[in-house]
Amino acid sequence: MTQKNGEERIDVLFSADEIQERVETLARDIVAQTDGDLLVVVILKGSFVFAADLVRALERNGASARVDFITLSSYYEGTESTGRVALTHDLSDDVTGQNLLIVDDILESGRTLAFARKTMLERGAASVRTCMLLDKPDRRKVPVEADFVGFSIPPEFVVGYGLDLAHRYRGLPYIGRVTQGEG
Ligand code: IMP
Ligand code: MG
Repeated sequence: MTQKNGEERIDVLFSADEIQERVETLARDIVAQTDGDLLVVVILKGSFVFAADLVRALERNGASARVDFITLSSYYEGTESTGRVALTHDLSDDVTGQNLLIVDDILESGRTLAFARKTMLERGAASVRTCMLLDKPDRRKVPVEADFVGFSIPPEFVVGYGLDLAHRYRGLPYIGRVTQGEG
């Protein structure tokens, strides 16, 4: 399936069904490797759709997860990260002594995840595990890996299922690859 919006073309990379299947197995792995007693730290905005599906899959698989939200912004110029990360909205829960599962949309340079991990450990979290919907290993700038990854992808810009390009496309039910300036 292809959607064209002016100069941008979006080709499906992972369908809604493929995503649902993967989220279910991720949740099973997470419950198997933790005791399921987790504070899920959702990094907004990009992971809100993934997190909504993941917490329900965790519950179906026997976890008892609490959920909190933090907004971290990595500044983009077009589709390129500038390398700066800002905390624009904080958690409402105290993470001291908690077993955390950080959930985010994409692991790219690693700066966002490294920042989130470091911040939570400094605040006294008992443990920090990380679950990313997507990983672009070829784009890593700082050494950080996730404990759980939905899909590894090539270094291409993707949208949908919560992910945006200049605030658009978050509501697409699938994950699509964006090509600019081509027919
Ligand atoms: P990192 O800090 O470079 O690892 O960047 C991660 C953040 O960049 C993600 O949470 C996204 O918000 C954004 N990002 C990276 N790649 C993409 C993409 O392909 N589509 C949409 N957002 C992206
Ligand atoms: Mg993000």
